[in-house]
Amino acid sequence: VHTTVGIIGGGPAGLLLARMLHNAGIDSVVLESRGRDYVEQRQRAGILEQGTVDALRACGAGDRLDREGIVHAGIELRYDRRSHRIDFPSLTGGRSVTVYAQTEVVKDLIALQLREGGPLLFEAPVHAVEGAGTDRPVIRYTHEGREHTLGCDWVAGCDGFHGVAKHAVPDGVRTVFERAYPYSWLGVLADAPPSSDELIYAHSERGFALFSMRSPAVSRLYLQVPNGTDPADWPDERIWDELEARSAVDRDWTLHRGPITAKSVLPMRSHVTEPMRHGRVLLAGDAAHIVPPTGAKGLNLAAADVIVLAQAFDHLKRTGSTELLDAYSATCLRRVWRAEHFSGFMTTTLHTDPGQSPFDSRLQISQLDRIATSPHAAAELAENYAGLPVV
Ligand code: FAD
Ligand code: DHB
Repeated sequence: VHTTVGIIGGGPAGLLLARMLHNAGIDSVVLESRGRDYVEQRQRAGILEQGTVDALRACGAGDRLDREGIVHAGIELRYDRRSHRIDFPSLTGGRSVTVYAQTEVVKDLIALQLREGGPLLFEAPVHAVEGAGTDRPVIRYTHEGREHTLGCDWVAGCDGFHGVAKHAVPDGVRTVFERAYPYSWLGVLADAPPSSDELIYAHSERGFALFSMRSPAVSRLYLQVPNGTDPADWPDERIWDELEARSAVDRDWTLHRGPITAKSVLPMRSHVTEPMRHGRVLLAGDAAHIVPPTGAKGLNLAAADVIVLAQAFDHLKRTGSTELLDAYSATCLRRVWRAEHFSGFMTTTLHTDPGQSPFDSRLQISQLDRIATSPHAAAELAENYAGLPVV
């Protein structure tokens, strides 16, 4: 079997790429190691930048997003018992974000792909990519108990942080940049209406808290917790009390409580693999980079990579030139490092390090005050959060 682009991984990056290639008349095969239900239920990101929304719409995956997505024109920063709203449109020339869960993006893209796209195989784990440096790379995978090979003109490694594609870049060529953080997030879903119309990012000496949502009836909430935390140590009452304590503010505000339906602990890290291309293997999304989640960049960065990649394949098809594919890694890495900086900045400004000194806490408050009082500082946050232009 042979295809033009062999796509490893059916997460947001692989599925969006397959969709954009299909629309450009380029054939592809998507190989996903997990089952459809697992991929569709995996609870992850919730915020789409304007550019991600535009790309989903342009490729025909915007119908339900337009009906059910909730446009958010700002966020609230809460610290020192004060609250400050950052207004995105006025600070960014009209940009906003949309609350629409990754689970829903993935469901929409899978439905489209199965209806009118190329092959998308579930429970088809890839073991190896061979011949990255040749004109005919080969993907080896298992499906329905048998070993298979897929010959490709190009391979797109969209297989996430624990995938195999990045190992197609030889050790001597690959450089890894990494940073670990001394805290994790406890993430919960609750059958409780959101306590605020917009997201709240709360700095507190007890640790960071984030108030997000999935729908008008479901809240998505996060608490900073120590690395290695067992969710079983956090009964529901303890979670609500801690959320309440970390969001204390000198004005009217009621935290809406309700039954907690899911709990999990998410470690965080910053990670970049360079380059994002070796020969005919191109890495996209979490396969090449991870950001800590505080700026809501992970999914959006994955989308930006494959937007660039799909344009490069389209350019090759129309002109025969690989110039955009040759520029792929450098083009993406500029945006990746911007997002790494912003995500690291949001993380370290809003979380309380276990060894944090009172001096460090004063610096955090000073930084937050600066954002609250200077339109320039606020615009810097707003532009990064709402999303910089894709290229
Ligand atoms: P993934 O979504 O990881 O998709 C990769 C796919 O490849 C998966 O379906 C995987 O099963 C498949 N795969 C892996 N190995 C193989 C193989 N060998 N063969 C075939 N298929 C394979 N971002 C935010 O902005 N906000 C959040 O709140 C947030 N929460 C997160 C919580 C968790 C637990 C994680 C892990 C990430 C979170 N992120 C969040 C980040 C965001 O979800 C990711 O950046 C996004 O999923 C990246 O998409 P992707 O397609 O590159 O990778
Ligand atoms: C969500 C996750 C984030 O990391 C973030 O910064 C905002 C919202 C969410 O899951 O809703």
